[in-house]
Amino acid sequence: MDSVEIRKRFLEFFRKRGHVVVPSSSLVPDDPSVLLTTAGMQQFKKYYTGELDAKKDFILPDGLPAIGTVSIQKSFRTSDIDEVGDASHLTFFEMMGNFSFGGYFKKEAITWAHEFITEEMKLPISYVTVFQGSDVVPKDEESKKIWRKLGVSDIREEGMDDVFWGPTGSSGPCGPTTEIYCKNGAGQDIEVWNIVFNEFFCTGSREELLAGKAELKPLPSKGIDTGMGLERLAMCLQGTKTIFETDLFQKPLGSLFQKGDLVSARIVADHLRAATFLLADGVRPSNKDAGYILRRLIRRMLVRATIFLNIQLDRSAVYQEYIEDVMEFYGRWYPELNNLNNKADTLSAFVQEVSKFSVTFQDGLRIFHKKLASETIITGKDAFDLYQSHGFPLEALRDIASQKGITIDEKGFESEFERHQEVSRAGQEKKFGGHGLILNTGELKAGDEKELKKATRLHTATHLLQQALRDVLGDSVHQMGSDVTSERTRFDFSFDRKMTSDEIRRVEKIINEKIRENLPVGCKEMSKEEAEKAGALHFFKEKYPDRVKVYFVGRTLEDAYSKEFCGGPHVEHTGEIRGVRVVKEEAVAAGARRIRVVLE
Ligand code: ALA
Repeated sequence: MDSVEIRKRFLEFFRKRGHVVVPSSSLVPDDPSVLLTTAGMQQFKKYYTGELDAKKDFILPDGLPAIGTVSIQKSFRTSDIDEVGDASHLTFFEMMGNFSFGGYFKKEAITWAHEFITEEMKLPISYVTVFQGSDVVPKDEESKKIWRKLGVSDIREEGMDDVFWGPTGSSGPCGPTTEIYCKNGAGQDIEVWNIVFNEFFCTGSREELLAGKAELKPLPSKGIDTGMGLERLAMCLQGTKTIFETDLFQKPLGSLFQKGDLVSARIVADHLRAATFLLADGVRPSNKDAGYILRRLIRRMLVRATIFLNIQLDRSAVYQEYIEDVMEFYGRWYPELNNLNNKADTLSAFVQEVSKFSVTFQDGLRIFHKKLASETIITGKDAFDLYQSHGFPLEALRDIASQKGITIDEKGFESEFERHQEVSRAGQEKKFGGHGLILNTGELKAGDEKELKKATRLHTATHLLQQALRDVLGDSVHQMGSDVTSERTRFDFSFDRKMTSDEIRRVEKIINEKIRENLPVGCKEMSKEEAEKAGALHFFKEKYPDRVKVYFVGRTLEDAYSKEFCGGPHVEHTGEIRGVRVVKEEAVAAGARRIRVVLE
């Protein structure tokens, strides 16, 4: 059965059983505590915690509330990156899942999963696992009974590591699970489906939970969260030995596997596909967060492809073709891969990263080969230099070293890395007086604690200034730039004539009144849409992330005098500013004015 048919049958199976089909959410989640979407349940987290009401949001065509939802979710897991290349692990994969929030529970979830696998897919189940119990969570006798009744006799008990799922991010829903194992074409038993009984809210991360540092509380809306890897199910159904022989990798990327080293071809295929999806969801290569994950994927893929598959970097057209193949094949289900503009942006971001890497990579490779001529071990310092100056990810270095039969002193690499971090941290502290302060609107410049305090006062004054300018000159006033030091704030705004001295006096007066009222300054984190809806001002030139901080001057966000997208820092009460004076107002460009304000 090809993957097109599997998708259709899965969604249809649950749709017929009262579920609403929900499209995959983006790989870049709304939840600021996770970098990338790792599971289908992530977009539904708030329905389990009771913050959102599934009965209101998921309605069947007949107008009644749905029994649950069903989706095929784009997912990305860095945790499996070292295993990519074997039969069944990937970084990016598609997760098929059905979900209930406060509705059906173990009996229905297990019975439907059993029916889907054995009857709809006609696949024998090798065995299942259930939770063996822990200090705080009892053994799952109920699931065992249900499986036995369905005629499954090989039921294995496992613990927290394997059959207790979640939470994702810094806290969230989690619970014991039951897993279904089936055979692939090589006769190996592979976990295909994980059925989670979301019963608890964990107050900390998974790591904290396993270390006994987080608490489990009963969930307001307990329910079902399942995840079945589309690639793994396809492998079992198509009788292939690895996921890479299924149509999901052969249709778009088949010719890669004829190019040489098989494990490398698998890594390249996985990373190329993952990079395409990440780029299409707006992630761009960078040195932090999701952008850094993407950069590492692309660079490692390029190193592998160049060295083991002989696809040279100067032939970036070859890579482009593969990316186009991926977009073409998957675009049927994911509109972001099918949108012409987005396709062009994805390709050009990819090509840019390839050309950025290619020069340093060639240099690095020369250095690497020179070292190889005389050594069998790459010292930590050399490895770190290649990483630091040439952008070689450690994984890529490992790949090259293993092929050449040499080792890298990884401990040495780590201590070099730490030493470097310390040096650069010390440099930052010297520059910014102990606070690496970069604002959305520019840099807040301060040399020591005393200066920082002054700059912070002026920073809050800048927010008051913007609102006061709008009060006096009208709402056409928008920030065009700003620069805050401990001496003064310099604020550029759109306005097409010189301010009169009366207007300047009125602006000054408003700011000083707000200072005298000693208003509290608050900060709220929210989605960009919410922030815009709340009327928070923002700097139009700036690209903001999906989650933003809004600083507001006033008792509540609703009745605040000033609201702005901002990274801080600010004073706690406006009284701390004490008083300000406008010292200059001048033109900077056509339609743009510059005003300078100092502390009194
Ligand atoms: N959320 C569960 C998983 O990712 C289903 O395995």
